Parts: sequence; structure tokens; C-alpha cells
Amino acid sequence: MLSRFEPAGPLRGALRPPSDKSISHRAALIAAMAEGESAVEGFLDSADTHSTLAAVEALGARVEGADGVAAEIRIAGVGMRGPASAPVDVGNAGTLMRLLPGWLAGQAGRSFVLDGDASIRRRPVDRIAAPLRAMGAEVDATDERFPPFTVRGARLRSIAYDMPVASAQVKSCVLIAGLIAEGPTTVTEPHASRDHTERMLTRLGAAVHRNGRRVTVVPVDELVGGHLHVPGDPSSAAFWLAAAAIVPGAELRVTNMGTNWTRIGFARVLERMGADIRGDLEVADGDVIASEEPVADVEIRAGELRGTTVEGEEIPLAIDELPLVGLLGCFAEGETVVRGAAELRVKESDRIAAVVDGLNGLGGDLEALPDGFVVHGTGGLRGGVIDAAGDHRTAMLGAIAGLASREGVRVVGMEAAAVSYPGFTADLERLGT
Ligand code: S3P
Repeated sequence: MLSRFEPAGPLRGALRPPSDKSISHRAALIAAMAEGESAVEGFLDSADTHSTLAAVEALGARVEGADGVAAEIRIAGVGMRGPASAPVDVGNAGTLMRLLPGWLAGQAGRSFVLDGDASIRRRPVDRIAAPLRAMGAEVDATDERFPPFTVRGARLRSIAYDMPVASAQVKSCVLIAGLIAEGPTTVTEPHASRDHTERMLTRLGAAVHRNGRRVTVVPVDELVGGHLHVPGDPSSAAFWLAAAAIVPGAELRVTNMGTNWTRIGFARVLERMGADIRGDLEVADGDVIASEEPVADVEIRAGELRGTTVEGEEIPLAIDELPLVGLLGCFAEGETVVRGAAELRVKESDRIAAVVDGLNGLGGDLEALPDGFVVHGTGGLRGGVIDAAGDHRTAMLGAIAGLASREGVRVVGMEAAAVSYPGFTADLERLGT
């Protein structure tokens, strides 16, 4: 696999990002909870989403067509109360680890042990254990916080849960548990986070309502399987948007990108920094919960970049792309600040340390904050070596940095990209850099 990324000439062409990881996880899980068969068009073929398919199969769902070539997979669900007691290996997938327990918590009399790889064992599960315990389930975690952990199911009480952090994973976990609780369950988020779970449940007939930052789900006896469509992942597309913004003379078209407004914070930040972005990006529509995921082709052209501050409600809308804001900051005029993003410390790696140390190692001028970082723009990056340390997004960050650097970048551990974007280096080669 390519692991050295040389300075690129003007990037031109079109790219189709891989399918959305977040939506693929949810599609597999929710289809497994449903009655009958669901067809999932465009399910992401990646290490992380295969962990979710393996998990739902272990629990009794039947999966067909997941051989990496099918455009559509079919999942026969076991029903809301049907998962068999089984150990679950979540691999590297934090989303699986945090969403699945919502379903398992409602399985009275059954218990489930969840574990994963070395990186997952450093990621906290207390954030889901607290609300699930309040609903009546038992959750025993290692050192109170980490995998491996056991979920003992119960008849669930409905709750009103005030989330301490804006986390779509926690919100989704509680909403899924709420589907099998004794009455309506409400989650209040400090800021809006991605709403794929709400949209997908609505699509399969569940009653989900939003009132400002409060989301309520009404229990249902069953969900009926159906047709689900997974658009291109804006978090994967973000690498190309960033490349187009910092490689001189670049002009790229990203096709079939999901443009759900809760996922495109990075595109808004890019616009504010001075990049020229064209495409039909979704705009928030009050309390309406759409049952569809919007998709569009997006064009981007390099422009003079200026520093900006990303904070507050913008953080959850760009959470996985914040490392790329650090990269853009190196090429921008003035200071770029990310704050209010302490969550970055508990991602696949400590992404504040990864961005600051990684980009400083390539000639950048960044300082870490407890909850973010400050980038002093120097107009470019020298290049050098960056270690992905097992984090897929750091691997791809290093590659894009290489394209825009003066001397090129070698990425140690580039294979980590396969967690979300197995075709990343092939797509890059196709661009003919
Ligand atoms: C995700 C939510 C985010 C994000 C993660 C995927 C999801 O995590 O960082 O990559 O699919 O719900 P948090 O909910 O912890 O913010």
C-alpha cells in the first residue's frame, strides 16, 4: 500500500467517497432489530462496518450479500426482543460499542459481553452505562468505564436524560433503548449532533419527535424492515475537500456525498476560511425529522485561506473533521482555533495530541489546549514522517498533508485507513497526483 505522499500538481477530477460509516452501522443494527428482511443499498464495505455485520449475525440476524462486491446487502432481523445471548466483538468500532447496548439493555433475563481491540479498550462506555442503568439495565465495565463490559438486560423504564456531552452515539443508544421501554423516552442534547438514528427510525415507522434540543421516542411493538439507502460519507469526502482547499490550483468534484446538515459543519468552516464550495448542502429545518438522507455532488476550488475559530454548536457538526481544520490552519493566514472539543481526546486516538504532534512533526506551528488546539498559520508545511498510531483519520490526514507539503510525507501505518475508507490510496492514485 502507498505510504509516501509527494507534493501534488493541481488536483483535478471527480471522486466518489465510500458509503457513510455512521449510517451503515445504524442500518445493520436497526435492520437486525426489525421484523422481516431489509435491503441496505450502498452498505459500506470496511473493517468497522463488517464488525457490525458480524455482531448482528452473532445475535441471530441473517446477513446476505456482504461479500464486498454486492451493491446491496440483505438483513433478516430477529425482532426487537429476539437477540440471542452471545459475546460480541466490536473490533475498532466505537459506534457499534455505544449503540448496540441500547438494544441489548432491553432483553430481560439475558446478558451480553462486549469487547474489542486495544484501541476500543481505551474508549469510555460510562457515558452509555449511566442512562442504561437509570432505565433499569445492569452494566458492569472494566474499571467502571472501559471494555470489556457486560450488559444485563431488564424491563426498561422510560427516562428523560440530559446528556452531559453532545454525542450522537449516546443519544442513539438511549433512543434505541427507548423503543423497548415502558413509555416515551426523551434525550436532551447540549448541542445538536448527527441525527441519522432519528431519520432511520422515522423511515421504518417509529414515532420520533424533536422539540429544540429534546428528542423523544415512543416505544413500538415492532419495527418493520424496509429499504435503506446509504449515501457517500461526508467525513471521508472531507479529505478531498481539504486537499482541494490547500493544493494550489486544485479543483475537485465530490459526487454522491451525504449532505445532512448535522454532518457538514466542516464544509461550512471551509467556506468561512475562504474556499469556494458549490453544491446543494442541506439547511436545518426547525424540528422536522426527515426520513431521508440528502445527497449531492459538491465542487470545491482552492482559495486564499484565513484562520477561523470553531467552537460551541459547530463542534458536533464537524467532530470527525476537526483534525482537518488543524491541517487547513497550517495553510491559512493568521490563527485557527478549535475549542470546546475535549471529546477529541477519547476518539480512536487522542486526536488533539495526534493533530498537534503529528502536524508539528511536519513543520507546523500548533499548540494543544485541554479541549482543542491553536494553529499559527505559516502558509504551508515542510513535510516529513507522521505515525497514524492505528487511527484511520490520522493516516489520511498525513496523506493529504503530503500532497500539499513542500517535501512530501511518509505515513507510518497507512493501512489504518481501511477502518473507514479501504479505497483511499487507490482513489488518490486515480487522481493521478
Ligand atoms: C458517531 C458519532 C460521533 C463520531 C463518531 C461516529 C456516530 O461520536 O465522532 O465517529 O456514528 O454516532 P460521538 O457520539 O462520541 O460524538
